[in-house]
Amino acid sequence: MEGVKVIDHPLVQHKLTIMRNKETSTAGFRRLLREIATLLCYEVTRNLELTTVEIETPLCPMTAPTLVGKKLVFASVLRAGNGLLEGMLDLVPAARVAHVGLYRDPKTLQAVEYYFKAPDDLADRLTIIVDPMLATANSAVAAVDRLKERGAKDLRFVCLLAVPEGIERFRGAHPDVEIYTAAVDSHLNEKGYIIPGLGDAGDRMYGTK
Ligand code: PRP
Ligand code: URA
Repeated sequence: MEGVKVIDHPLVQHKLTIMRNKETSTAGFRRLLREIATLLCYEVTRNLELTTVEIETPLCPMTAPTLVGKKLVFASVLRAGNGLLEGMLDLVPAARVAHVGLYRDPKTLQAVEYYFKAPDDLADRLTIIVDPMLATANSAVAAVDRLKERGAKDLRFVCLLAVPEGIERFRGAHPDVEIYTAAVDSHLNEKGYIIPGLGDAGDRMYGTK
């Protein structure tokens, strides 16, 4: 699928299976989400540009690689995005963070915004949006719309699960934004849930159902 990278690393797949299992506890779900996030972060940052700096090791001077450019931005789609955000920040602690508060209206499945806060200079930074679920893609499209409105030009979207119809909608709206996902599931049910999926990511993370 064009514009979609499936991260099929065995550790990611193993952890994802435990997360899908309805017997997995809230604490276990949160821990695994954070762990998988570090592995997804590794992939989504694979082609970051490097430059060199002069340093001295305890033994000699060295010209050593270092990341070039401004710090990147992780944009978390609340609530469930925060689970991925934690793991991303474990690997890139100096990153800036944007929060996009959205919930899905259960009847219309449209995304409703309730909060937005982002660094001012999005135009100069790579923005990595994190949200575990790409279902109808209404939330993801709305999040990217908002971030682009605020100047973001270079964006990537990271999730755990996507479905073909969500991918089609997202790529139709934002063909410039690559999707990184741990799996592409079968389809959406009549309530807009991913099948087989893992249930409601926010509820499973926070034990709210
Ligand atoms: C979930 C998930 C996504 C959205 C995906 O959030 O974290 O943001 O659903 O569905 P979509 O692709 O059909 O828009 P939810 O609206 O349940 O909010 P929550 O994270 O606060 O529980
Ligand atoms: N949001 C979720 O949390 N889970 C789904 O399956 C679909 C949307």
